[in-house]
Amino acid sequence: MAKKIILDLDTGIDDALALAYALGSPELELIGVTGTYGNVLVETGVRNALAILELFGRSDVPVYTGIPHARERDGFEVLEISEFIHGVNGIGEAELPDASIAARSGSAVDFLVESVKKYGDDLVIVPTGPSTTIAAAIEADENFAENAHIVMMGGALSVPGNVRPWAEANVNQDPEATDLLFRRAKDVTMIGLDVTLQTLLTYEETSQWRELGTPGGDFLAVATDYYIKAYDTTAPHLGGCGLHDPLAVAVAVDPTLVTCLDINMKVDTEGETRGRTIGDEERLNDPVKTTKVAVAVDVERFLKEFMERLSGLAARVESPVSVGVQGR
Ligand code: BDR
Ligand code: CA
Repeated sequence: MAKKIILDLDTGIDDALALAYALGSPELELIGVTGTYGNVLVETGVRNALAILELFGRSDVPVYTGIPHARERDGFEVLEISEFIHGVNGIGEAELPDASIAARSGSAVDFLVESVKKYGDDLVIVPTGPSTTIAAAIEADENFAENAHIVMMGGALSVPGNVRPWAEANVNQDPEATDLLFRRAKDVTMIGLDVTLQTLLTYEETSQWRELGTPGGDFLAVATDYYIKAYDTTAPHLGGCGLHDPLAVAVAVDPTLVTCLDINMKVDTEGETRGRTIGDEERLNDPVKTTKVAVAVDVERFLKEFMERLSGLAARVESPVSVGVQGR
C-alpha cells in the first residue's frame, strides 16, 4: 500500500521539484498540499502548487492555504535573496498558467490535524518551508505532536547556514516555530544543509528534461536552469544547485538514503546565533531522542532516483497545459 504524504511547501523552485518527486513516486499517495510563505508570499506559493499540479494532471490533489507570516511578526515580505534564487514568481520566471481550480477554503492546520488523526502511522508530513503552519498544528492538538511523522527540510548541524552564518533559510524565517517543532514533536527527521548541499543538479540533467519536448519537461528545465544560474552566483564552489526539498521527499520514500544522528534538537532564538539548529544541552542525557538529523547521504543513489522519477513523470503525463519557453 502506498504511503500517504502531505507536503507543506513554499513553492519555490526546489519545492516544485519536491512536488514532482512526490507525484513521480509510486510508493507515495499525495493526499494534500499545504502552502506556506518563505520563498514567496503564501498566495504565490499556493498559486504555484495548484498550477504545477494541473501541469502534471493532478488537479485532484487538494491545496490548503497555511499561515502567511512568522509567529512573532505581523506580516511577511519576500527577501531579496529569495527573489534572486527563485525568481519573483517563485518558479524561475517560467510561464505557467493559473490553474483552473482554486485552493480549498478549509484551514491548513485543521487538514494537518485531521489527517494525522485519520491516518496515523500510514502518513508522513514533509514540510519544506518555514515551520509556522506545522507549529500551529502542534499547538492545536496534542495528538498531532504525539503521532505525526515529520521529515522536514531545514536547518544545518555540521555546516554553516545559507542566509546567515548561523541560519538556514527555512528556520531563519521563523526560529520559534522550528524550536517548538523540535521540542514537542515526537518523530522528526531533519534533512538540512549537511546533506542537501551534497545533492547537486547541473545543466546536464536539465537538458535531458528539455529534450523530452513535453510541457512537464519544459517547465522543469526552465525553472531549474534559473535556480542553477542563481547558485552559480551565490555558491559557485558547489558546481550545481542544491536539491534541498526533493531530498526530504526522497527520504520519506526511502529512509536508507541518509545516515542519521539521533539527537534532541533546539533552535537558538536569541542573540547573534538566532536561527541556529543545535543539540539541546538540557535534553542531552534524555534516553528518548525525538529528532534524527541526516549527516550523510548516498548522493549517487538519490540522484538516480531523482532523475528517474522526474523524467518519468514529465515524459508520461499528457499535460493539459503548455509552458512558455523562450526561444521556441
Ligand atoms: C530551503 O530554503 C528555500 O529557499 C528552499 O526552497 C529550501 O526549502 C533551503 O535552505
Ligand atoms: Ca522550500
